Amino acid sequence: MDAQLDTLRTEALAAITAAADETALEQLRVRFLGQSGTITAVSKGMKDVSKEDKPRLGKLLNDVRTAVTAALDARKAALQGDADAAAFAGIDVTLPGTASKLGTLHPITQLLDRTIAIFRRMGFALADGPDIETEWHCFDALNTPPDHPARNEQDTFYFADGRLLRTHTSTVQIRTMEKTAPPIRIIAPGAAYRRDEIDATHLAQFTQMEGLYVAEGVSVADLKGTLEFFFRELFGNDAQFRFRPHFFPFTEPSYEVDIKAAVLGTGSAGGGKWLEIAGCGMVDPAVFEQINTKRGDTAFDPEKFTGFAFGFGLDRLAMILSGTPDIRYFTDNDQRFLAQF
Ligand code: PHE
Repeated sequence: MDAQLDTLRTEALAAITAAADETALEQLRVRFLGQSGTITAVSKGMKDVSKEDKPRLGKLLNDVRTAVTAALDARKAALQGDADAAAFAGIDVTLPGTASKLGTLHPITQLLDRTIAIFRRMGFALADGPDIETEWHCFDALNTPPDHPARNEQDTFYFADGRLLRTHTSTVQIRTMEKTAPPIRIIAPGAAYRRDEIDATHLAQFTQMEGLYVAEGVSVADLKGTLEFFFRELFGNDAQFRFRPHFFPFTEPSYEVDIKAAVLGTGSAGGGKWLEIAGCGMVDPAVFEQINTKRGDTAFDPEKFTGFAFGFGLDRLAMILSGTPDIRYFTDNDQRFLAQF
């Protein structure tokens, strides 16, 4: 039996060393150590061995089994190493990898976030409303008569059913007043649409930010203080303002706000010039009356409450702040432009 085991060991080790792949190796394992393998067969004969020979032969059998198992494992590891090396052949693993690039928020979104944060500090809450609106919310409620040019087919996108794409987010102020009573302090950012000829300073869709404050005793001083604070946060403390009398159907008195600031010196605006940046005014009592009629109460009693409203385009502000000469860059989605923010 000694000789038989020695032969088996020699035979097995030689075969394992010569095995070309893992399949061949597995076949060898079965052939020597499997249930009907040759080494297993020898071990089955152990029960007939004499008492004196048993310890010696038992140990030898164990040694052979251990040696064959170790050889199988070693050969398997070697074959896997070879396979890995083959997979890497021709690849220089020391070369730097391809880094994946992280994008940033769109410049208008960044400005929107900043704007919201500044108004939040002054206690303004965010309000939202639909882009597709009724004529009433967009015009009638805002004291804008049917013959007003903004209502013209050439200026507004109408749907066949008479609804339209809102021309400003003042619609959100109307919707807020329909369902809440004073005091109200909201900002309404969102898309607004106009049938503008698209050029360097106009798009048919832009991002507007409007605000409304209604309470007892709200005055023009509050309006000026709020807007000046906001624009100083954006343009710096040296910013100068001009509230130029203007007309809007829904505010009385109404103003356009012009700004002059050092940061604008290098921007598209050119240095030292007054730049128009916003429209604003005191809510016209006629708007409150419209709301009361719709609500069927006197929640917005014009004798008791006053309010101010304002609106400006974020695209315009983003252009001024970043010195972007053409508004169309914001919608071209050209990475060479966007990656600069
Ligand atoms: N809704 C006006 C516009 O879109 C802006 C505005 C808002 C003006 C509130 C005055 C008061 O041009």
